[in-house]
Amino acid sequence: MTVRMLSGQAVKDWADRTDNLARGFGGSSCRISVIEGGRLQLTFPRSDPLATPLPAVPIPDAASVGPVEIGKQEDGQPWLLKVHGTHVLVAGATGAGKGSIIWSAIRGLLPAVRAGLVEIWALDPKLMELSFGRALFGTRYAADPGDCADLLDDAVKVMQSRAARFAGHRRSHTPTVEDPFVLVVVDEVAFLTAYQHDKELRRRISAALATLTTQGRAVGVGVLAALQDPRKEVMNIRNLFPDKIALRLDESEQVDMVLGDGARDRGALADQISPRPEVGAGVGYVRLETSPDPLRVRATYVSDDDIRDMVTAYGKEAH
Ligand SMILES: Nc1ncnc2c1ncn2[C@@H]1O[C@H](COP(=O)(O)OP(=O)(O)OP(=O)(O)O)[C@@H](O)[C@H]1O
Ligand SMILES: [Mg+2]
Repeated sequence: MTVRMLSGQAVKDWADRTDNLARGFGGSSCRISVIEGGRLQLTFPRSDPLATPLPAVPIPDAASVGPVEIGKQEDGQPWLLKVHGTHVLVAGATGAGKGSIIWSAIRGLLPAVRAGLVEIWALDPKLMELSFGRALFGTRYAADPGDCADLLDDAVKVMQSRAARFAGHRRSHTPTVEDPFVLVVVDEVAFLTAYQHDKELRRRISAALATLTTQGRAVGVGVLAALQDPRKEVMNIRNLFPDKIALRLDESEQVDMVLGDGARDRGALADQISPRPEVGAGVGYVRLETSPDPLRVRATYVSDDDIRDMVTAYGKEAH
């Protein structure tokens, strides 16, 4: 429904009353987006196309550095995740489905990995997620915090040597076999930063992550990091990630911490996503650069069998 705001009204006056509007129109929720000229679009979803799990997308035939199809948008369109030329932070409570975003992204990049245009470097401090597909990462896999710090420092070195070579020649990166896109995937980044009790390691890791996220994108080094707790103390480099995804969160205050001010008012109800995995795991909200209105999405579920098949088809010898 399209409505025109009265003179003197602000979007917030409407956004603060989405519950009332939903009930008034017999819906279960209401989302607000600004059209222009003081007009708003109110959306009352009647059914939920994301209510059942989505199977993994077939591995693409062509090598591409993305955007990677990793799920579905609420409007039925594919959800494409940009990884090259940005950094992505995925926040969600335990069981929210962070793993499904990581694996869906990796899966879609495999042909490009085989073609030598992408390298995936995996940091797995909880040892529970990426270890399952370890053979996909070859030597670029670390779980021990010291090894993680070394791997991150290596990524910084790649970045710096490229920056020195590219300086004055080009301002953005095109993936080639000589200079592939390096995607540094970090599961539960707070284990390496906030919860890391070795102070020196914590300092090294935080510095490397901050360096990669501030300087990596123009030279083809990207970070895809998952995080359970988005509080500032836990993740003070949060704002260095241009793209953020909010999966199920424990508290309503955490939504704006992830997606930015006003995101929850505009309908990113990440704290209301069902904790039942079949209904809510992998469901989340994103904000695209082009619009302040959050988009509801669901990632595909890459099963253990899918990962096994990926390893069989694309695994490398670890050495
Ligand atoms: N996209 C999805 N669709 C359907 N079910 C999913 C999806 N992602 C995950 N699940 C289910 O939810 C469970 C938890 O998911 P996952 O391990 O990815 O959560 P997580 O956010 O990484 O949690 P943790 O912080 O504890 O590691 C999975 O074992 C799976 O059963
Ligand atoms: Mg996990």
